[in-house]
Amino acid sequence: MKEILKLNEISPLVKNVFLDKYDMVAESANPEAIILRSFKMHGYTLPQSVKCIGRAGAGTNNIPCEEYGDNGIVVFNTPGANANAVKELVVSALFLASRGICEGNAWANTLVDGEKTIAEQVEKGKKNFGGNEILGKTLGIFGLGAIGRKVAAAAKDLGMKVVGYDPFYNGECEAEIVSQEELYKVSDYITFHVPLLDTTRGMVNASTIATMKDGVKILNFSRGEIVNNADILSAIKQGKVAKYVNDFPCAELINQKNVVCLPHLGASTEEAEDNCAVMVAEQIVDFIENGNIKNSVNYPNVSLDGKFNYKALILFNADKISASDILDDKEYEAVSSAVRKNKGAILVGMEKDTDFNKEGILKVYKF
Ligand SMILES: NC(=O)c1ccc[n+]([C@@H]2O[C@H](COP(=O)([O-])OP(=O)(O)OC[C@H]3O[C@@H](n4cnc5c(N)ncnc54)[C@H](O)[C@@H]3O)[C@@H](O)[C@H]2O)c1
Repeated sequence: MKEILKLNEISPLVKNVFLDKYDMVAESANPEAIILRSFKMHGYTLPQSVKCIGRAGAGTNNIPCEEYGDNGIVVFNTPGANANAVKELVVSALFLASRGICEGNAWANTLVDGEKTIAEQVEKGKKNFGGNEILGKTLGIFGLGAIGRKVAAAAKDLGMKVVGYDPFYNGECEAEIVSQEELYKVSDYITFHVPLLDTTRGMVNASTIATMKDGVKILNFSRGEIVNNADILSAIKQGKVAKYVNDFPCAELINQKNVVCLPHLGASTEEAEDNCAVMVAEQIVDFIENGNIKNSVNYPNVSLDGKFNYKALILFNADKISASDILDDKEYEAVSSAVRKNKGAILVGMEKDTDFNKEGILKVYKF
């Protein structure tokens, strides 16, 4: 039986994918693949036999993807598999931003029966935590990817008006597409679902906050670094921002008035962990058995349907050689080929076994 080495605890549901063909083990000298969640692979000695790495989750900064790519090792992740978990938390954050739920709960926990009963104190004190309803308010969504689109649909169902901005947007979404300027101007609530990039780091800052509505509520379930904490705290003090709900506690933010910090709960549901593990296990098996690449972070997608006598997956450095130079004008039964950045992949279906040996080819896997 082929071995898949696990570097973290992985949902037992992957057994439904690995069946009796693959054994998922905690130690192995000759694993076909590695499956992991947050294990830090920088500096890790990779067994020679490993063909691919499967990260059960979206972020891959715990994996040296470039270095592995240069050695013809394909790294997979699971985009969108945790999107529903994050969406559900964002929906709850809309309410946390609207009503004094956290503050009211903290206050209620301090009450004791005394001269006035707890019930009497509750009736007198509750007015401090009343808040507003979200019905009819405008939600602005930055980033209309897997999570942003689900948030748009849920907010619409809850009776909100939804506007959105995404510079690379295509497809369908419940949000009305507007410019960034318009989004900041019209939104009562703004939620961010963008990746952390040079262009998004610190995007919520004094100058962008100045263009938002007075009393805006800001939700950040993207990454802590997209918000300038000093600027948002100062805007909260001035009453410009009414509430900041985020998933990224840090020394500056905890115990601050009108800031609600959650302990990075976005993707931490049992269901999301199961979804990510099953999705990455399916991608690993499809790669090992068929050479198909889907959702790799260091190689482009390639896939072939159908049965062939022989199949080869050729991974190459696209700065050094092109797909046509590798294929050399020869006829093959089927070819799927793609290039992304400096990495290329060609999957060929062949009648006869063929060798591919040219400078710039990083790895050839046969099936
Ligand atoms: N809190 C958590 O636990 C948790 C869990 C999962 C993901 N996340 C974060 O959420 C982010 C989004 O996740 P996703 O699955 O929706 O990713 P995704 O890749 O499906 O969507 C991201 C979207 O952001 C858009 N985008 C990029 N730059 C932008 C900009 N400057 N302005 C507006 N839009 C921009 C992209 O075009 C893309 O459509 C992730 O990158 C991650 O940082 C957090």
